[in-house]
Amino acid sequence: MVVSRRGASARAPRTNFESASHSIIVGDCVAEMSKLQPGSVDLVFADPPYNLQLKGDLKRPDESHVDAVNDDWDKFDSFSAYDDFTRAWLLAARRAMKPSATIWVIGSYHNIFRVGAIMQDLGFWLLNDIVWRKTNPMPNFRGRRFTNAHETMIWAARDEKAKGYTFNYEALKAANEDVQARSDWLIPLCTGEERLKGADGKKVHPTQKPEGLLARVLLSSSKPGDLVIDPFNGTGTTGAVAKRLGRSYIGFERDKTYAKAAEARIAAVEPLPEESLVPFMTAREAPRVAFSELIERGMIMPGTKLFDAKKKLGALVRADGAIMFGDKVGSIHRIGAVAQGAQACNGWTFWHVETKKGLKLIDELRAEIRAGMAAE
Ligand SMILES: C[S@@+](CC[C@H](N)C(=O)[O-])C[C@H]1O[C@@H](n2cnc3c(N)ncnc32)[C@H](O)[C@@H]1O
Repeated sequence: MVVSRRGASARAPRTNFESASHSIIVGDCVAEMSKLQPGSVDLVFADPPYNLQLKGDLKRPDESHVDAVNDDWDKFDSFSAYDDFTRAWLLAARRAMKPSATIWVIGSYHNIFRVGAIMQDLGFWLLNDIVWRKTNPMPNFRGRRFTNAHETMIWAARDEKAKGYTFNYEALKAANEDVQARSDWLIPLCTGEERLKGADGKKVHPTQKPEGLLARVLLSSSKPGDLVIDPFNGTGTTGAVAKRLGRSYIGFERDKTYAKAAEARIAAVEPLPEESLVPFMTAREAPRVAFSELIERGMIMPGTKLFDAKKKLGALVRADGAIMFGDKVGSIHRIGAVAQGAQACNGWTFWHVETKKGLKLIDELRAEIRAGMAAE
């Protein structure tokens, strides 16, 4: 889909949706990511152990048990052991990243500052920190402090000089009432139907992330057909969303039970229709079309008159692709400006041709040419 600032549209180049693949590798992510082809990955999303340092059983004021993260995979002997682990997996991920790839790491106050500093030390270039504000956070059960109502996601490029990384700015803006997307995201925790439960009715995993969060991550920083990896697959939230959005996926998980649950989850996902996923091409990215092409293709005949929207101003189309207003000759832009007594004018969105159905913006004719180019 090509969408100009005024909303004219045409199709973007085709993407091979059929070839998208999805797999989970059971094992240690550092060892397994090191087997990936260097520079082969478009996007990394990582939800590593947070090293929550929870000691003992957590209880509510009424003495009932809180289902908190108390698993072995989240335990480290010291901060320095956690830092060594963080360095190792970040380096393995970085090696696999394309120069234009980006990486997201999610964490809480327990780990995110350490992770951010290590990322900078390793040469990653931080692009944003996104605050995921939870609409339904777990209340604070221990200590006199604020309820933890958010988590932080660091989004970074592979290095400072990285060029051409994907950021779907225009699409995000269009989805946000035409206002730039912000760095604070209000999204509920994963609950209800989406939450994976075992036969015993208990949660399969203590930290399953909401699909809404991953959808925003993938839609903002990847394209259909891209290879997305997640070193800490868990229940496969990243993989499920990647498949739905037409991205390829490799997840790494050392716990076989989680990996099995994730495989079944991803297998059940139906990719969205291709038409709903084709990238949103900005007006700047769209192929250039000269006004003369409309004449060459017989869409506008020399001698035709172009009009403004109110049909108060008219200009004559010449055979050479220039237009004429009184004794002034020039481009559709120049003459548009002259006719209005303005400094500048976008002729594509100013001039119209007369059709049986009324006036038609010449930008619509340009969009038809672009649509044909994309389909070729
Ligand atoms: C915070 S959870 C990820 C949850 C996941 N985002 C989801 O939505 O389900 C971290 C996961 O990483 C796994 N893990 C921890 N260390 C690992 C390692 N070295 N290699 C592979 N997996 C690891 C844990 O078993 C756990 O499932």
